[in-house]
Amino acid sequence: MKFVIGNDHGGIDLVDAVKEELEALGHDVMWVGTKDKESTDYPDWAKLACEKVIDKEADYAILICGTGVGMSISANKIKGIRAACCSEPYSARMGRQHNNANCLCIGARVIGNELCKMIVREFANSDFQGGRHQRRVDKIKKLEEN
Ligand code: RB5
Repeated sequence: MKFVIGNDHGGIDLVDAVKEELEALGHDVMWVGTKDKESTDYPDWAKLACEKVIDKEADYAILICGTGVGMSISANKIKGIRAACCSEPYSARMGRQHNNANCLCIGARVIGNELCKMIVREFANSDFQGGRHQRRVDKIKKLEEN
């Protein structure tokens, strides 16, 4: 699968961990985030990375800021993006299985490298279960249209 990583200055410390884990799992990784600690605005990076998913250049986006919150709020404003902000692996798995999340948001000021890798692994290894969950995801899509 193809993943795109987007990050602001607050998220930079986890970029290598995310990239390493995805590559170890055999995925292609594109990185569109900021490369240094100079202050930038997370909605800009969320937009840039999520557009790669919308344009089908990537299957999933992984967004990293200080808390993951700003990135998830921003990403969820973009039509077609379902972003899950996760600080433990269970929610990352359920985000894929139940919510068909196509975007994972992580806080580099919240979790460390190893927990981050577990979350990324769980997200990448889990598939949408469909069934009753499809009906609910369809209702999310309807919310976007209103
Ligand atoms: C930047 O200081 C910080 O606000 C940002 O990385 C993120 O945590 C926002 O939600």
